[in-house]
Order: sequence, then structure tokens, then C-alpha cells
Amino acid sequence: MCAQDDTKSDVPIFVQTGQTDAGGDLDRWRQVGEEEARQAYEMVLRNELSGGTPVVREFEQAWREMTGLQYCLTTCNGTLAIYSALFGLGVGPGDEVICPTYTWICSISPALFLGARPVFCDSDPATMQLDPADLRRRITPRTRAIVVVHLWGWVADMDAIMAISRETGVPVLEDCSHAHGAMYKGRPVGSIGQVGCWSLQGTKPVSGGEGGVLATNDVEVFDRACLLGQVNRMAGMDLQTAGYQQHQPLGLGMKTRAHPLGIGIALVQLRKLAELNERRRQYVETVEAALKDMPGVAPVPTSEGSVRGGYYSFPIHYKPEELGGRPAGELIDKLKARGIPATGSTYQLLHRLPLFAQGFDIFTRGRGPLCEGTWRRPHEGDFPVAEKLHRDLVFLPVLSDPAPGAVERVVAALRDSVREMAN
Ligand SMILES: Cc1ncc(COP(=O)(O)O)c(C=O)c1O
Repeated sequence: MCAQDDTKSDVPIFVQTGQTDAGGDLDRWRQVGEEEARQAYEMVLRNELSGGTPVVREFEQAWREMTGLQYCLTTCNGTLAIYSALFGLGVGPGDEVICPTYTWICSISPALFLGARPVFCDSDPATMQLDPADLRRRITPRTRAIVVVHLWGWVADMDAIMAISRETGVPVLEDCSHAHGAMYKGRPVGSIGQVGCWSLQGTKPVSGGEGGVLATNDVEVFDRACLLGQVNRMAGMDLQTAGYQQHQPLGLGMKTRAHPLGIGIALVQLRKLAELNERRRQYVETVEAALKDMPGVAPVPTSEGSVRGGYYSFPIHYKPEELGGRPAGELIDKLKARGIPATGSTYQLLHRLPLFAQGFDIFTRGRGPLCEGTWRRPHEGDFPVAEKLHRDLVFLPVLSDPAPGAVERVVAALRDSVREMAN
């Protein structure tokens, strides 16, 4: 998914899009093609290149329909969707924002730039999602928001999390950047907490290359998100209330607006999401069913009553205790030797990043949430479940249109590898 291509010039170029050959010879799915190209071509000819264009509005309407939410706003990326949502929720200096340590940095980095302090939370050992019991322990009078991440397209235990939210009055932001189209007890993820955010970055199940989207039923969150960075979205056109009328059309003068071309491409991809999810579901469930009679490996369950979506990655539990204590890396190497591009966790746990493990003077001169005196540095061992998951999850390739025999190859490689390790 990422490649460092420095073959053509002296300047290394960092490429991070879902490459069409990401699954190697195992997958025939092309993430982008003719339809996306035609959409972009036609938008350029119409000069539909800035602002809330008809295509942007069509996308936001489609997203409202998908989520059943009243308000939707596209942004230039998922990080700025989360920033806008946290700003919308009123997160500010001195506040605390809770999020799992096992997630991508952008689930929480926006909180830092609002002056808020991150509070990390451990994971559930089975589902690998935020652990509600640990969440409850970490709430303080300063907690202003909870960021729940539906990691890898699996779904968090939203009933337990929302019960804590109701009890404490702390709102929930659902980061659905991996889980486009996932459901929890009949409701789309992103529509259960106060606000949902999605990334539309190049490797995501619905992608515009770069882009983001937030959706909510909370009018204050929506209006504040517009106010922050959506120049020219005015009351009567977009803003729902006249509360901030005197600040329009410029708002607060930041800019978080999406590029319409990205949103146009994402609109084409959104139409394919149901098919993509169905294809990935069939493949993942076939492999998971085959794991049942293999030692040392097991499917990762999603929380009760949920349906996975997006399938941003395909993790399985590796159980070293069933295979003589051998490390997960051994299984990964054996799978790779059999032509299956398996990996370990591609994300670093947040509490291990130097930014958080050492702290950082973000605003210089000893100010900001990660400074000495304000920041309690996390340590190794503080999040034992996430640390174990990070060590022991093994990731199989996500196949969307498996080549003939590809699923059987993945299953056979797993069976042969664990058999070898068991001997
Ligand atoms: C869980 C999660 N949250 C947020 C983001 C940020 O999205 P973007 O890259 O579009 O800014 C990502 C991106 O990978 C992500 O994986």
C-alpha cells in the first residue's frame, strides 16, 4: 500500500494509494478505473474545481442517506474531519480526549492542536476494539470527548460505550476511517455517537485520493464545523441556525474544505461500496471458517450484533501458546515464503511513539498538552492487552476479487504453515 519510489529522480516520492496490484496475483480488483477517470475528466471540463459544487452536494446527500444522519460535511481529509468534529464538540485547552492506543495517530492528533490532552485506553483482547471497562476507568471531570475507532473495519461495542457516554455526559466521536458501510445492531457506524468521521484517503474503501467526511445529527457540532473552515457555507444554504450568522460567510477563516475532484471520485466509489463489502466479506468469512480446525490461529470476532464493513485490513489472532511459544513473525515468514503477503501490525501503538512516550513542546516555550508538568508519559506495560494484540495479530491480504484459486492458496498456505510450526 505504500511505496518509496526513488527510481525516476533523485527526489524520493512517497506514494500511498491503494495500488491496483496491492493483492499481487491474488486479486483482480482495480481500486480506480474508467468511471473515476471519467468523473474527474467531466468535472474538470465543467470547471467544478472549488467549493460546494453540485457533485460535492450530491456526495453529502448520498452520505446523509447512507448514515441516516441529518447533517454532513466533506473535508480535505479525515484528519480535518476529526479536527472539525472535536472543535464542533467544544474540545479546547485543558480538556482531555480519550482514544485507544491501538489506532492511527490522526484519531487523536487533532485534539493536540485544540490544546487538549490525549488519554489512551486499552483494547478488548477478543475484538481488539476500545475496551469499555478501561474507558470507564479513564474518565475524569476534564474528559470532553471519547474517540471510538472501528479498527480495521471491525466494530466496537457501541452499547457499552454509549452507556458510559450517557452516564458521564461525555460525547462520542466515531472514527470510521476503516469501516465504511459497517453496521452495529442495524445502524450504520458513525451514526451512533454524537458525530461520525471517515477518511477518504487513497487506501480507504471509499476513496477520493484525499478527502474526509463528517456526519452528525447534532446541529451545534455541524454549525461549528462549518464555521471553522468551510468558507462561504452560509445560513440558508448550509448552516442550520443563525447562531453564527454575524461571522458568515468567512467563518473563523480556517480552511478545511474538500477538493471537489476528490469528492467526485469518492462519489463513484461510494456506489461500489456495497459490492466491495460483500466481496470482501465472502473472502474473509471463507478464510475464517477454515481457521477453525487449525492450531494457533483464530478469527477476530466483531462485537455482538455488528456487521463488519470496509475491511481495511484482515487481522487474525495468532496464539503462540498453541504453537510452542513461537513468535507471530515465524508464521508471517512462512506465509510470505508461500507467496502470501502477510504482515504484522502496520500501526505503531500510540503510547510507544516518541511524541507521546517522551512528550513534545508543541507550541514552544513550554506550552501545550504534551509538556513537562502537564503530560504524564505513558510507559511500556501500561496497555497490556493492546501490546499483546500488537505482537500477536497477523494480517492476511484483503482480497476484493480473488483470482481463481487465490482463496484456496491463502487457506492452504495457512494450513501448511501452522502444521510445520506444530511439528
Ligand atoms: C483510523 C484513522 N483515523 C483517521 C485517519 C486520517 O485520515 P486522513 O489520512 O484522510 O487524514 C486515518 C487514515 O489512515 C485512519 O486510519
